[in-house]
Amino acid sequence: MASYTLLLLLASCCGALASHHYAGVMTFTPKGKNADGSFRVDFRYKETYHTCYTTNSWFCRSGNCGTIDRFEIGQVDSNSNGANTQGNTWCQSEALMTRNIPSNTPFEMWKTGCCWIPSDSLGSWSLLTHVDLGIRSDTNEPNRSPVTTIIPFIRIPRNCPRTFNLLAHDPDNDQVRCRYGRLGSNECHTCRQHSGFALDENSCTLTYWDAFITKVNAFEIVLEDYPTQFSIQVDPSVHDCTEGNILPKFLFPTPQNGEKLIAAVGQELEIKLKATATQSWVKNFIISGPLNITKYNTIRGAVGESRIRWTPTKNDFGDHVPICFIAESQQGYRIFHSDMRCIIVIVKHKSGNASVICTETTMTVEVEKASIIGLHEDHLRLNDPSCTPTSNQTHVIATVSLGSCGTVLEEDADNLIFKNEIMSFDNVGDVITRKHQVEIDFVCCYPKKSRVYLDFQAHKIPYVFTEKAFGKFTYQFEFFHSELFNTAIDTDHYPVDVALKDVLYMQIKATSSVANTVLFVESCRATPVDDPDYHISYDIISNGCILDGTVVVYPSNSTEYRFGMEAFQFIGQHEQVFICCSVILCVAGEPGTRCSQGCTTPTPTPAPVLHHLHRRDAATQTGRHSISQGPLRLKKATETTVSNMGLNMNLVFIAAFLLVVVVIVCGAVIYTVKRPTFKYQPLPSTDF
Ligand SMILES: *[C@@H]1O[C@H](CO)[C@@H](O)[C@H](O)[C@H]1NC(C)=O
Ligand SMILES: *[C@@H]1O[C@H](CO)[C@@H](O)[C@H](O)[C@H]1NC(C)=O
Ligand SMILES: *[C@@H]1O[C@H](CO)[C@@H](O)[C@H](O)[C@H]1NC(C)=O
Ligand SMILES: *[C@@H]1O[C@H](CO)[C@@H](O)[C@H](O)[C@H]1NC(C)=O
Repeated sequence: MASYTLLLLLASCCGALASHHYAGVMTFTPKGKNADGSFRVDFRYKETYHTCYTTNSWFCRSGNCGTIDRFEIGQVDSNSNGANTQGNTWCQSEALMTRNIPSNTPFEMWKTGCCWIPSDSLGSWSLLTHVDLGIRSDTNEPNRSPVTTIIPFIRIPRNCPRTFNLLAHDPDNDQVRCRYGRLGSNECHTCRQHSGFALDENSCTLTYWDAFITKVNAFEIVLEDYPTQFSIQVDPSVHDCTEGNILPKFLFPTPQNGEKLIAAVGQELEIKLKATATQSWVKNFIISGPLNITKYNTIRGAVGESRIRWTPTKNDFGDHVPICFIAESQQGYRIFHSDMRCIIVIVKHKSGNASVICTETTMTVEVEKASIIGLHEDHLRLNDPSCTPTSNQTHVIATVSLGSCGTVLEEDADNLIFKNEIMSFDNVGDVITRKHQVEIDFVCCYPKKSRVYLDFQAHKIPYVFTEKAFGKFTYQFEFFHSELFNTAIDTDHYPVDVALKDVLYMQIKATSSVANTVLFVESCRATPVDDPDYHISYDIISNGCILDGTVVVYPSNSTEYRFGMEAFQFIGQHEQVFICCSVILCVAGEPGTRCSQGCTTPTPTPAPVLHHLHRRDAATQTGRHSISQGPLRLKKATETTVSNMGLNMNLVFIAAFLLVVVVIVCGAVIYTVKRPTFKYQPLPSTDF
């Protein structure tokens, strides 16, 4: 695995000299290959000075740093309560610099200057970034830099201990470690490790307990093949360190530290921040995030609010974008900061505009054509390939009866859930593959009793069920990269391409609010459509017995079932294959449950699709639930070569990105228990 160093210089302020550097941070993201074979890399750097900085003065320190193809710079946030120097103001700017790099040999970019804002460092600063675009053996893609951002200037009262969770997020899921810069490697100028602070290199947390004197501390931190960030001024003590009194405290709906949000290209993401303090005024929120991010602060009595807005562009697609924020309050001339929270925004494809209309017997989805990139209306079909949607000038429209066109029925304790999807397909011989560019799931939910609501859900997320006695429980079904089961295959890499004889690593994980539950995988089969009852299928596990000779069960426990099997010819015989499993959750140690029986001989009458337990055993096991994951596709020989060389990420995105359109529907229908012609049988409402 390639490794590289990312240097992050963070300062905190205070003193009396006319210096001006508050903070800096540099990250990079490989963006694929250009037609001429050169590598395209986005560099994002943030710098904070007493005024807004608008130029690029990085230079190439070693290796070939290539040429600049795009350069944009702008203000991220500014503040007038900065260090006691140069008018007390600071301004953080972010620059996006796209470079074309001729080869993937490592190089270093450097920037240096003078001086830090007054602090005990009193010196020059330097930022050094080591870039290695080497190809990772596990993902076959260039290494990605950890992502990080930093609030440039943070205040803490001298007598209030605090822990700073430095944002430590690696898009490749590598472990992230942080350390102080080393003098000998040009990673810092003064390389101070401040008394009163302790850096935990493994968890990237900086703990403050007591600094003895009030001053600004400049931190020069390095991230190695992992990400992080931050900065600090120690202010005079306060009489009360409790959050929400003098120091501001975040309130709901402010995102939690470490939360991951999903954003879509071209759609504005709004994040609401809220904070309060009873003995000071929350007047501002300091943010650090991507170029073009905006904030709108409002104050209502003791509560301050801010709306952070950002609209990802196509260039941000696939990126993991960090945003950090702090609430700032004032009491007289004194300024206080809340703890720092940081989140990651993952940029997915643009979602479309669509609506779903559910009636007693049909579901209709209307998708606005203009709202979906890459919608080829002649290449769309429903679950059942023989059903195709119709379209007028503006919309693609699909109407299916609840029992046709491959509509699938699922249920939970309260609802019957009918699902279908519009997906793109290729004609035989098409050069461009449109497969899975578009997937529009649509769902109609019919409450078994009383009120009716409709819902629309994304595809292949953990399954959530609710049953009396078991409460809410979830099943998560994932494919993994290896028998270590430490990294699940990223949702962006679906459909999963496999070569014949490759081992498929699968894990089914159950989570339940009830203690002592046991997961039982009763059956698993491969099917060409996402429907366990499809007439074409290949049985892997049946009645708890392993049928396929290549299956290996890896060390598992009562809630995680791990197994592997060789990719088999069946996959190649179909465009795609799903693995559908039927699972049951039981109370551990209870005799007579399905889980305790293990492999059994088939019962003469096959279990109905919607299986219900008799009331007397409802407390010891759940019903059978069907879960699935996929699709899997057989890798073509040519695709193998391409992915090993592996670099045109843009091309990969175009060819294989799975567009999941999520539509939220509001509406109401009255479902009288009139049955569709298949699968579903009315249940006595007293069943649980
Ligand atoms: C920032 O916004 C401007 C104006 O809307 C736009 O041209 C530019 O591409 C945006 N830059 C980034 C990096 O999003
Ligand atoms: C989606 O619909 C809304 C209002 O119905 C409209 O304002 C918006 O422009 C549409 N989005 C797209 C991408 O067409
Ligand atoms: C196309 O169909 C949609 C959905 O039924 C409808 O709202 C729209 O007015 C139709 N457009 C045209 C041009 O007929
Ligand atoms: C077993 O269960 C625990 C949770 O109780 C989980 O953390 C662990 O990773 C599980 N899996 C295996 C294979 O041991």
